[in-house]
Amino acid sequence: HVSEISRELLESMSGHKAGALWMTGLSGSGKSTIAHRIEHELILSGHRVYVLDGDTLRTGLNSDLGFGEEARRENLRRAAEVVKVLIDAGLIVIASFISPFRAERQMVREIVGAGFYEVYVEASLETCEERDPKGLYKRARAGVIPKFTGISSPYEAPENPDLRLNTSRHGLEESARQL
Ligand code: ADX
Repeated sequence: HVSEISRELLESMSGHKAGALWMTGLSGSGKSTIAHRIEHELILSGHRVYVLDGDTLRTGLNSDLGFGEEARRENLRRAAEVVKVLIDAGLIVIASFISPFRAERQMVREIVGAGFYEVYVEASLETCEERDPKGLYKRARAGVIPKFTGISSPYEAPENPDLRLNTSRHGLEESARQL
């Protein structure tokens, strides 16, 4: 069956558009912190928002996937399909995934379709390594975690993101405000 509820109807009932802010950047760049900060503000001002985050998805739906290129691609393909479903339900989705490869981010953009915005959360490797909120960089440097983005696996920075937030320069508070 085809739903009789269109995206336009959902959008007019919630008073805002549905869409996705796709946050890409190194681990520790501030993606999830910024995502949760603006989620809070948007919810309090009456928006329907959902934060979808790599760490969360990887404990459930994607718990079978590792960090090789193929596994990351599948991780992001599934994430994009989930984002699409949530947009269909009329939500503003804030998706927080390292999503290190350009080709995969392009795939995500194509799967999600209208209302997709790429947000590059930029921070130097030095800053992320200093923050190291989960102690992962230390373990990656010690060789305990293989294929760690920024250390032993590449991160391809976006060339033309819809928005660029530099958290090394402006900090997380200012970056959240910008977004
Ligand atoms: S992605 O590359 O497939 O987009 P995703 O955002 O889902 O990554 O997951 C990243 C999170 O997984 C990191 O924040 C970190 O907590 C954890 N992680 C564990 N191993 C790795 C690794 N080898 N590279 C990057 N992140 C890792």
